[in-house]
Amino acid sequence: MTAKIIDGKEFAAKVRAKVGEHVARLKKDHGITPGLAVVLVGEDPASEVYVRNKGKSTVEVGMNSVEHKLDADTSEADLLALIDQLNNDPAIHGILCQLPLPKHLNEELVINSISPEKDVDGFHISNVGMLSTGQKSMVPCTPLGCLMMLRDHLGSLSGLNAVVVGRSNIVGKPMANLLLKDSCTVTIAHSRTKNIEEVVRAADIVVAAVGRPEMITGDWIGEGATVIDVGINRIPHPEKEGKNKLVGDVHFASAVEKTGAITPVPGGVGPMTIACLLANTVTACSRANGLEEPEGLTA
Ligand code: GUN
Repeated sequence: MTAKIIDGKEFAAKVRAKVGEHVARLKKDHGITPGLAVVLVGEDPASEVYVRNKGKSTVEVGMNSVEHKLDADTSEADLLALIDQLNNDPAIHGILCQLPLPKHLNEELVINSISPEKDVDGFHISNVGMLSTGQKSMVPCTPLGCLMMLRDHLGSLSGLNAVVVGRSNIVGKPMANLLLKDSCTVTIAHSRTKNIEEVVRAADIVVAAVGRPEMITGDWIGEGATVIDVGINRIPHPEKEGKNKLVGDVHFASAVEKTGAITPVPGGVGPMTIACLLANTVTACSRANGLEEPEGLTA
């Protein structure tokens, strides 16, 4: 079988273009510019790169971007005061507090202090609860991106067997809830799952989010399955000494022989995460103003 390689870069560009169109309409018809605030505490180099990329992408689609960079030793009280200020700022429609936070700060407390309506990460406990009960909520960006790609490739997901490998709060669990909402039969497999290969082989849809390099090999994949690989793992390059190579949780070369469609790493799910952050921000802005939500950008 010749697998379709799902191009996440191209798909993310389409999502960003859709967000841009909706932003332009909000500005023209209602005089509203969506605003995203990103809070970074400390100087983690990887987080600084993410935050810079988020700010750049936000401005590119015509939204306002506000960055708050706080010292690594910022007190919890000061961080909560900033979030309170952003919660009450009508020009800010989305708030993202970059994780991980320095150890002295309580991540759960900080995330749950963001207004659920402005929680564009979808990490607030109210959003988690609303998603799991099938109510309208803010949805975590990576699973939302996976869902968009699955819907684009397969159309209706109703009745399909979906196996999510990995049970994290950020990807595995929300992904399972989204697939259930789209009427899939959903299994969450994880490190303790018995006969995991067989479980995965029975799936029409496999979403791999375990964080173990190339764990899922071609012999685990049912003929024609659609495979979404969320893993981003750095391993020593097999041919170039001293260099690293990015691989997913799926062994691409063997899996591609079996799948109907598959996302590569890099260039698959990765680019979708920021695109979905922008989508969530324009959705939050539309909801805050009682306006129609952007079509095709929500769960
Ligand atoms: N750190 C790494 N990924 C993310 C993300 O998606 N959201 C937040 N808030 N922090 C992160």
